[in-house]
Amino acid sequence: MVGKPNRRAVLGTALGAVLATTVAATSGHVTVRSPNSLLRVAVRVVNGRLRYEVKRRGRVLVASSGLGLDLAGRPSLTSGLVVESVERRTIDETWRPVWGSDALVRNHARECVLRTVQPSSGLRLNLVVRVFDDGVGFRYHLPAQAGLDAYTVTAERTEFALPPTATSWSLAAGTDWNADERHYRQAPLSDVRTAQTPLTLATSDGQHVVVHEAALIDYPSMTLAATRPGTFASELISLPDGTKARLSGEFSTPWRTLTIGDRPGDLAESHLIENLNEPCALADTSWITPGTYVGVWWELQRRHTTWTAGPRHGATTERAKQYIDLAKEAGARHVLAEGWNTNAGGQWSGQDFLTPQPDFDLAEVLRYARANDIGFTAHNETRGFVDYYEQHLDTIFARYAQLGIHAIKTGYAIRFELGGANRSHFDQEAVRHYQRVVDAAARHRIMIIAHEAIKPTGLARTYPNLMTGEGVAGMEQHHYMGPLGNPPEQATILPFTRFMGGPADYTPGVLNVTWDPARLGTRVQTTSAAQLALYSVFFSPLQMLADTPENYRSHPGFAYLKDMPASWDETRFLDCVIGDHAVAARRKGDVWYLGAITDEQDRTLRVPLRFLGSGRYSAEIYRDAADTSWQHNPLPIDVETKTVRSSSVLTLRLVAGGGTAIRFRRE
Ligand code: NOJ
Ligand code: CA
Repeated sequence: MVGKPNRRAVLGTALGAVLATTVAATSGHVTVRSPNSLLRVAVRVVNGRLRYEVKRRGRVLVASSGLGLDLAGRPSLTSGLVVESVERRTIDETWRPVWGSDALVRNHARECVLRTVQPSSGLRLNLVVRVFDDGVGFRYHLPAQAGLDAYTVTAERTEFALPPTATSWSLAAGTDWNADERHYRQAPLSDVRTAQTPLTLATSDGQHVVVHEAALIDYPSMTLAATRPGTFASELISLPDGTKARLSGEFSTPWRTLTIGDRPGDLAESHLIENLNEPCALADTSWITPGTYVGVWWELQRRHTTWTAGPRHGATTERAKQYIDLAKEAGARHVLAEGWNTNAGGQWSGQDFLTPQPDFDLAEVLRYARANDIGFTAHNETRGFVDYYEQHLDTIFARYAQLGIHAIKTGYAIRFELGGANRSHFDQEAVRHYQRVVDAAARHRIMIIAHEAIKPTGLARTYPNLMTGEGVAGMEQHHYMGPLGNPPEQATILPFTRFMGGPADYTPGVLNVTWDPARLGTRVQTTSAAQLALYSVFFSPLQMLADTPENYRSHPGFAYLKDMPASWDETRFLDCVIGDHAVAARRKGDVWYLGAITDEQDRTLRVPLRFLGSGRYSAEIYRDAADTSWQHNPLPIDVETKTVRSSSVLTLRLVAGGGTAIRFRRE
């Protein structure tokens, strides 16, 4: 059963403790402090425009920045406003995610709602500000009001006056279908002209900040455009007619967020984005099963087999069974088969997503999967024929539910035809489409892995069947981005950029990194050991073991991946420098998994094991062998086991493009 989410609730969250006071504002000048008082957000109306400023430890982090919206045919809500009232409350609740990077999450913030009115038009606009110890969220709320039934947003006028001297990591803004499947740029913030979010900064005084958004519902994706060096204005992705959003009645925009910390690890450990989303809307989540998955995929990407029918067709009954055997051996819970249905591959048009290819006996594959306690993941590559998909969603999903299929990987490669128009993958209508898929899937107890969809904004807290998504230059880009693939440093940037919004289906775990049957001249730009380390560095509740049965069985690194968890009780990011190296440790029950990766430089890292509990642990260390080199000899790994305690300090010698993966079990 799916509960009825209140998608526009501003104050509707069920909270552990709420203290609310309302005061009539006279000065229109309000300060909201974080619970630990280190962060301070000042909001005021200056010359009729709402403005905000963020200070941390008394120093300005975001200088005075304007706020407001433009609605078609109305005076801009960037002028003529006066504050009518201010309401404050404290939020303090602890919640348990269905899956996540920590078993318990504390949501602790001070909130302030400023109610403003534009006397000349009578329009009302509220600003909701929440200040946490680890950052800030604010959103606009248009309350129900006479004369505002149906209306059009033509621009959002939110500014971010960030420190121009900061170093930044971002993707250029874009509306292309694969705008998120690019490599992050490192640049002085003052050189950045446009950016998608997350946009990540390291300030010259050593603070770290991520600009992003939370709870992107019924609204277009926000990008950023520089108005002067270091200062950005929100630029919403347009509908085909150039406007931004068609709304009716009361509405809350997504939250505009600043995740803030000293260490890069403070960013990656933060739950601010999830905390700004509504609690779980699904009454029963027992059918949501995080875990690793394998499947007919990498062999297709490498053109060893084909999506289309023919002599090299990948998704045959026999091959699917081999992957089910692999899943069982690996402790994986799901098996994906791309190219299982008719008209997959080639032009992809005319798929009904229900008819299997002649050499794929769906009933037999499902029987074999069930007998081995493995779930089948159906591939729905819409190829952008979204109108067709929408019209048939319920029929397709109902049939899957009948068959016992509880997971779908969706895809929107290239176009996005919806509402009779070819549109951006990131506009308001596209955002609504992804949500309709998640809602329909929940009705039929189906989990979603979405490729070429929208960046994550923490919605999985509310809809935990939205398991993971792409929006990342993942493993396949080692192939599509030519001989250079994904440069090693990209993986040291992603935990602090793309993963700030939520899980990514990066699909790690290719151990035969040089495998190139098609002789395309491409390969994976890491060592095999670095692939193992990614299971701690990257989070996805459906996490792929991307390699083939043959490659796994012939590589000693496979032992590390067996029974790998995909949802965690605790996560720590340890020694990390964005773009240089990352060390992350994750715990499931009593077992810790640590992954350390480096960029194109050799590095020696000292890792204190303070995160371990008391007593002795056996550390199984999978590392690059003495003669391993990312470019010339990437496959060899050494496996060593030794006894350690929380007082131990490990010295990890990482070769360029390499990594170390360690499993700690209590002795
Ligand atoms: C792009 C997706 O990202 C990839 O995973 C998939 O295999 C292809 N499209 C085909 O649908
Ligand atoms: Ca893709």
